[in-house]
Amino acid sequence: MSTTYPRHVVLTEVGMRDGLQMEHDFVPTETKIAMINDLIATGLTHLEVTSFVSPKAVPQLRDAAEVLAGVDRRAEVTLSVLAPNVKGIERALAARADGVVVFLSASESHNQKNLNRSIERSLGDMRDAAAATRGSGVQVQGAIAVAFGCPFEGDVPVERVVEIAHRFASLGFDGITLGDTTGMATPPVVRRTVEALRAELPDMPLTLHFHNTRGLGLVNVMEGLHLGIDAFESSLGGIGGCPFAPGATGNICTEDTVHLLHALGIHTGVNLDALLGVAGHLETVLARPLPGQVLRSGPRLRRYGLEEQAAAVG
Ligand code: COA
Ligand code: ZN
Repeated sequence: MSTTYPRHVVLTEVGMRDGLQMEHDFVPTETKIAMINDLIATGLTHLEVTSFVSPKAVPQLRDAAEVLAGVDRRAEVTLSVLAPNVKGIERALAARADGVVVFLSASESHNQKNLNRSIERSLGDMRDAAAATRGSGVQVQGAIAVAFGCPFEGDVPVERVVEIAHRFASLGFDGITLGDTTGMATPPVVRRTVEALRAELPDMPLTLHFHNTRGLGLVNVMEGLHLGIDAFESSLGGIGGCPFAPGATGNICTEDTVHLLHALGIHTGVNLDALLGVAGHLETVLARPLPGQVLRSGPRLRRYGLEEQAAAVG
């Protein structure tokens, strides 16, 4: 049986947003800026670099405007930011973000915890956000958190995800991201959700955002690739998680994802060795081992000298 994968995949690096929002300690602004510049130098063209949310809710990203102002901007690189409401959109536009990601949750419980309001009220915020971006030239992505399962409510009905996607489509959003906030996706759940959305909104570009909470992150990427998905989000070193979802752990790791995609012959435009260098630097900054695996092991064809290994002597 032969399989056809997309020839090129767009990876959006979300470590500086999804990753750092979960860190206990504030990472200095200059460190964030230097790391984003280093990430761009690896060939990544899409990065979600910060959040324009309430600084009381996510103090780790309270320097969002300074981060955007400090990063080297390049025409071929899209820097996007998370924004929950019009205030966030206005801050993002003032900071010259290339793209905004507006978001809500597919379950009422998580939406209440994360955004302090009902889904219906958040949809109103989305409508106002869409109006605030009109004519700005900024790309608007609608993200649906807990799209593959909610830590409070369990399975989320696919119909609810489809309904929210319809509302996003009617607001003219450029694409939809399905977020697996606490790693509850499995290949069958991914398949039925993507197929349902494709049946209803065949032209809507879909991006998949997985967390590796249960070790299924790259398995779910494989399922996405089989479905023809060519856009995924991942995080340097595999850091990340939502501070308002119990049991949240890291995103799929960017280096590990690039390693997989290249092994499948899929083009990413990213230099894996350079990326491993930046991930090693992040490990130093955060002063703990990160979840990424290729950072430990090296790429699969890493070779050792014979003298590096003692032989078994009986
Ligand atoms: N940027 C900065 N400040 C904001 C803001 C934004 N986008 N949105 C609201 N605020 C401020 C308001 O100005 C107000 O400030 P004040 O107390 O000084 O007057 C305060 O936050 C409360 O505003 P309100 O509209 O009542 O918000 P809320 O308390 O109901 O919280 C959110 C709603 C959406 C702002 C908040 O829940 C939030 O930021 N959530 C983001 C969660 C997140 O990022 N999760 C991780 C990603 S999955
Ligand atoms: Zn996430």
